[in-house]
Amino acid sequence: FNIFIDKSFDSVCELAAQEILDFIKKKPNAVIGLATGNTPKGLYKSLVKKAKEQNVSFKQVTTFNLDEYVGLDEKSSDSYNVYMQKHLFQHLDFDENRIHLPSLSKDIEQNIDDYQKLLSEHKIDIQILGIGSNGHIGFNEPGTKFDSKVHLADLTESTIYDNQIYFKDTNNIPKQAITMGIDDIMKAGKILLLASGSNKRKTIKTLIDGQITESFPASILKKHPLVYIYLDHHAALDIS
Ligand code: F6R
Repeated sequence: FNIFIDKSFDSVCELAAQEILDFIKKKPNAVIGLATGNTPKGLYKSLVKKAKEQNVSFKQVTTFNLDEYVGLDEKSSDSYNVYMQKHLFQHLDFDENRIHLPSLSKDIEQNIDDYQKLLSEHKIDIQILGIGSNGHIGFNEPGTKFDSKVHLADLTESTIYDNQIYFKDTNNIPKQAITMGIDDIMKAGKILLLASGSNKRKTIKTLIDGQITESFPASILKKHPLVYIYLDHHAALDIS
């Protein structure tokens, strides 16, 4: 792993954002894999600011999000679709036809097939990842096969617990999501994983020091040739 640590998470987000922008400057039609949750918010903020300052266009950029909840109303403000619009898409010149997330429509099998087909027609150049406290990437929870493709995932109790703070409607927190599989993630050319805060400290230590095992999904990243890990000093405390 190439690991970047800074006292402030904003500073490591700036590094990661610049990495992405430099890539798009070289390859304006880059394919970028995106994550949601708390962690990438700072990255997207920095990306928007720097893209404007450096005049980088996202018109030809294609994006694929890692995952989307199942069972939410298509207009729900808790969806990852709305999250992405709010934190990234609406601020830059994205072409909406090149933005992809698993659909929220009712036919789950169809949504999975459609997403897998779209993914197979592209090669992700850079994949952004957060990491769940249980080591999940995307919503590939512990026990998910390393050769998994796009699938319907049952969220673990710990993930549902971790995510409840993000929901306006706490009576209606989804228990399932459609997620890219581990195999889909591993096909990306380069992976940027971000983590901040002391609640990710143990997780990061396990990622760096632990064995490769399906009970800690992120451990497979040790087999990927190009992984950059961006940490604030709280998340890095046990490894530095
Ligand atoms: C989100 C995703 C998840 C999150 C992880 C960490 O698209 O795929 O794997 O990256 O749950 O979430 P935060 O950043 O909220 O701690």
